[in-house]
Amino acid sequence: MYHPACWIVFTATTALLFIPGVPVRSGDATFPKAMDNVTVRQGESATLRCTVDERVTRVAWLNRSTILYAGNDKWSIDNRVVILSNTNTQYSIKIHNVDVYDEGPYTCSVQTDNHPKTSRVHLIVQVPPQIINISSDITVNEGSSVTLMCLAFGRPEPTVTWRHLSGKGRGFVSEDEYLEISGITRDQSGEYECSAVNDVAAPDIRRVKVTVNYPPYISNAKNTGASVGQKGILRCEASAVPVAEFQWFKEETRLANGLDGVRIENKGRMSTLTFFNVSEKDYGNYTCVATNKLGNTNASIILYGPGAVHDSSNAASRALACLWLSGTLLAHFLIKF
Ligand SMILES: *[C@@H]1O[C@H](CO)[C@@H](O)[C@H](O)[C@H]1NC(C)=O
Ligand SMILES: *[C@@H]1O[C@H](CO)[C@@H](O)[C@H](O)[C@H]1NC(C)=O
Ligand SMILES: *[C@@H]1O[C@H](CO)[C@@H](O)[C@H](O)[C@H]1NC(C)=O
Ligand SMILES: *[C@@H]1O[C@H](CO)[C@@H](O)[C@H](O)[C@H]1NC(C)=O
Ligand SMILES: *[C@@H]1O[C@H](CO)[C@@H](O)[C@H](O)[C@H]1NC(C)=O
Ligand SMILES: *[C@@H]1O[C@H](CO)[C@@H](O)[C@H](O)[C@H]1NC(C)=O
Repeated sequence: MYHPACWIVFTATTALLFIPGVPVRSGDATFPKAMDNVTVRQGESATLRCTVDERVTRVAWLNRSTILYAGNDKWSIDNRVVILSNTNTQYSIKIHNVDVYDEGPYTCSVQTDNHPKTSRVHLIVQVPPQIINISSDITVNEGSSVTLMCLAFGRPEPTVTWRHLSGKGRGFVSEDEYLEISGITRDQSGEYECSAVNDVAAPDIRRVKVTVNYPPYISNAKNTGASVGQKGILRCEASAVPVAEFQWFKEETRLANGLDGVRIENKGRMSTLTFFNVSEKDYGNYTCVATNKLGNTNASIILYGPGAVHDSSNAASRALACLWLSGTLLAHFLIKF
């Protein structure tokens, strides 16, 4: 918003400058002339320049109210501060290895015709983003609450975000230093990435692994057929974190590896019960029990033979048994004729 009076003063001043024949002393209005604000990165050098002329009798550079240099005399005891030039036209100093606490106003002070004048420049120190403290890898039980922390430093202050890398979305899960997950699910396990971003340098990125424990869940346990004298294999698959341990039962009896011609083999989430030479007494109802520290679950698996189609609740395996039976009958039939 203009005040009409301002405009008149401004216009009059401008007009004066351009009226031919009127001598204009350049730079008088903002004398002494310091440069614009100086922006440097932490660790770099900053040069503070002040433009002067021959009328200047005294010069000094100040850090806030502390004199760094007066003319050629060094007042600062900081050996990072050196004089660059002290001529009729320029009075400059240099600060080596700038640090964040050097940020602030610096003043070029001059005396002209017994009038002190000053000009101010701001030293702005930039620092690349750096993650200074971040949560360690963590293991929790499903349903518990988790807070991940990622503290970052930098100038300007970096923006901190969290992403879930293993998730389907792979999107941002937090636009903040803290990521809070209440009632964590198994789908939320995996790697989380924290990025600290400012426009000074490349982002600082770090990862945290979240392991979510959950009790076993049997995902695959199918009834299986085998004929006498052949090999029979029952399979039981369970997902669990930590990985499940398996036990096999027939009715109340726990089966032991290597006894009665069976072998129990556990590989990751799969357990197999192998009968090397199936006999009639092997047919029946088996139970696979999967256990980890959070709990256990079990499933029944039937080993059935071609002669006795089991009253299986699994229609598919019943159909399979029928097919197999008819196949065997057909074979007998063919042999006979
Ligand atoms: C400027 O002043 C600040 C505050 O007193 C001080 O920490 C910093 O070291 C000074 N820097 C220089 C270059 O004198
Ligand atoms: C110089 O920096 C100061 C402090 O950050 C700010 O207030 C001022 O507007 C800046 N001046 C220019 C010309 O950028
Ligand atoms: C990181 O933050 C944690 C929790 O606030 C604290 O216990 C730990 O001492 C911090 N570590 C460092 C290196 O600052
Ligand atoms: C399987 O068991 C039957 C009866 O116990 C036996 O006669 C047969 O030789 C065995 N077969 C094999 C391959 O061990
Ligand atoms: C199987 O699970 C049922 C229900 O949870 C339980 O009652 C039974 O005792 C379990 N069987 C075995 C062999 O662990
Ligand atoms: C197998 O045994 C379990 C329990 O031991 C029972 O719940 C299930 O009905 C049995 N299956 C068959 C087909 O008999």
